[in-house]
Amino acid sequence: MKIPSNIKEIFEKERFHQLATASKNGEPNCSYIGAKYLLDDETIIVVDNFMKKTLKNILENPRVSIAIIREKEAYQIKGNCKYLTEGPIYEEARKWMKAKGDRYPAKGALLIKVTDIFYSTSDEKAGLPI
Ligand SMILES: Cc1cc2nc3c(=O)[nH]c(=O)nc-3n(C[C@H](O)[C@H](O)[C@H](O)COP(=O)(O)O)c2cc1C
Repeated sequence: MKIPSNIKEIFEKERFHQLATASKNGEPNCSYIGAKYLLDDETIIVVDNFMKKTLKNILENPRVSIAIIREKEAYQIKGNCKYLTEGPIYEEARKWMKAKGDRYPAKGALLIKVTDIFYSTSDEKAGLPI
């Protein structure tokens, strides 16, 4: 699905989000992401610099959930993730990452196609699809 512009703005402008994954057997994992950008209106790129359990999980189970927040405006973005280690999209992500610092290994790129977005606010819209 297309990400509406107000949510794109929060995704791009806020520095860090939380990425939740699950193993094939349902073991949950939640980690921080800061190396992220939008490839287009429905696709998120996250650069894998240091991922361990996250990487294991996405290779077993492509479903991911990202929690984003700005002040009291909060959303949960769900999607299907592919792990890229070659090709033009990965090369672009690697270049983008390396421009921010050579200490980032940019081992891979998560390409996340957004499938659902929900309100994560603490009000009557909580949990509802946008
Ligand atoms: C503020 C912050 C931002 C982070 N951003 C990223 C990121 O964009 N990419 C990445 O690979 N790791 C990032 N990390 C590291 C991960 O949160 C985490 O330490 C790493 O994925 C290993 O944990 P895991 O075993 O749960 O995957 C970040 C950590 C912090 C504290």
